[in-house]
This record gives sequence, C-alpha cells and structure tokens, in this order.
Amino acid sequence: MRRLHIPILLGTGRQGRYSEKVAEYVKRQIVNYDKFITEIIDVRDYATPITVPGWENQNPIIKKVQSLMQKADGLILVIPEYNHGYPGELKIFFDKIQTQLQGKSIAVCGVSSGGLGGARVVENFLPILVCFQMKIIIPAIYFSNIEKLFDEQGNITDNKYDSRLEKLLQKFN
Ligand SMILES: Cc1cc2nc3c(=O)[nH]c(=O)nc-3n(C[C@H](O)[C@H](O)[C@H](O)COP(=O)(O)O)c2cc1C
Repeated sequence: MRRLHIPILLGTGRQGRYSEKVAEYVKRQIVNYDKFITEIIDVRDYATPITVPGWENQNPIIKKVQSLMQKADGLILVIPEYNHGYPGELKIFFDKIQTQLQGKSIAVCGVSSGGLGGARVVENFLPILVCFQMKIIIPAIYFSNIEKLFDEQGNITDNKYDSRLEKLLQKFN
C-alpha cells in the first residue's frame, strides 16, 4: 500500500511560537500510523519579505516550495490567531503555491492563548483554502490555552486531543 505523504505546515515564523509544539505533537502522533509519511514544513524556511507569486517559478525558493507541495498528498496546517487573522508569512507562503495543492485534502489546527483555540483565524483562512480548491477536512482542531497545554518536555497535558487528532487523520484518504 502506498503511504500518504501528509506534511505539517507550521504557519508562523514568530520567535517563541507555541505552534511549533503543536506541529511536533501532531508529528509524534502521525508517525504511529503506517498509513502516513510526514515532515514539518516551516514557513520560516521559505520566507520572502514580500509576495513572490507562484508563477515566478525560476526563483529557487519558489521552485523548492512548489516541489515540496507537489509531492504532498494533503496537508495539515497549524495556524495561530493574530488579531483575529492569520500570520502574513503564511499568506505569502500560500501565494507561492497556487496550483500545487489543488484538489488535495487539508486539515486545520487552530492555535491561540485564549479559550477559542484560534476558531476565528480558522474561519478566516477557509476562503483561501476554497480559492485553492482544497478539500477541507472538518471539523478543525482548536488548540486553546496554548501556553499551558504542553509541559516542559513538550508533552500535551490534555489527552482529549489524541482522539480528536485520530478522528481527523482517519479522514485523509
Ligand atoms: C500579534 C499577535 C496577535 C494576537 N491576537 C490574538 C487574537 O486575536 N486572538 C487570540 O485569541 N489570541 C491572539 N494572540 C495570542 C496568540 O493566540 C498566542 O500568542 C499564541 O501563542 C499564538 O501562537 P504562536 O505562539 O504560535 O505565535 C495574539 C498574539 C500575537 C503575537
């Protein structure tokens, strides 16, 4: 059986980001499934200070990011809420890959320090995923109270997320 390649996109470059703990948690859970191959893709590694659209595909950063996305069967997006919106660097990342994700499945993990777990940013990002003609897996997972959700070793302190993630992963096919 061919394994599905489902990278985890770490959607913020912020120094000290808690979203990285979420991405690492998701990765640790996914590697328990034979069905998947995964890796963390960090927007920081493909950052450009301004928008470089995907059609400028002679640019080495664009080439690299497009090839990464082309070989993915789907994506898990970790997205924190900043002023009810999404990090600018995430949108700049997406504008590099207009066609490579078309028709592929995407699961979304919202992140926030408050109780809503990034619900507003997830809703705000959906139109972009629709524009990309992606298959949106619902429901999203909302990682709330993020500053207290992981212990010093990076382990999640609320095991309800394990079953939420399991349900979400089952929806990739
Ligand atoms: C610029 C900025 C704006 C924020 N705006 C919101 C917000 O609108 N709603 C919210 O619940 N949390 C907000 N927060 C708190 C974030 O949810 C919290 O810092 C969380 O850790 C963000 O994820 P990160 O650590 O991966 O950057 C904001 C944080 C930053 C840095």
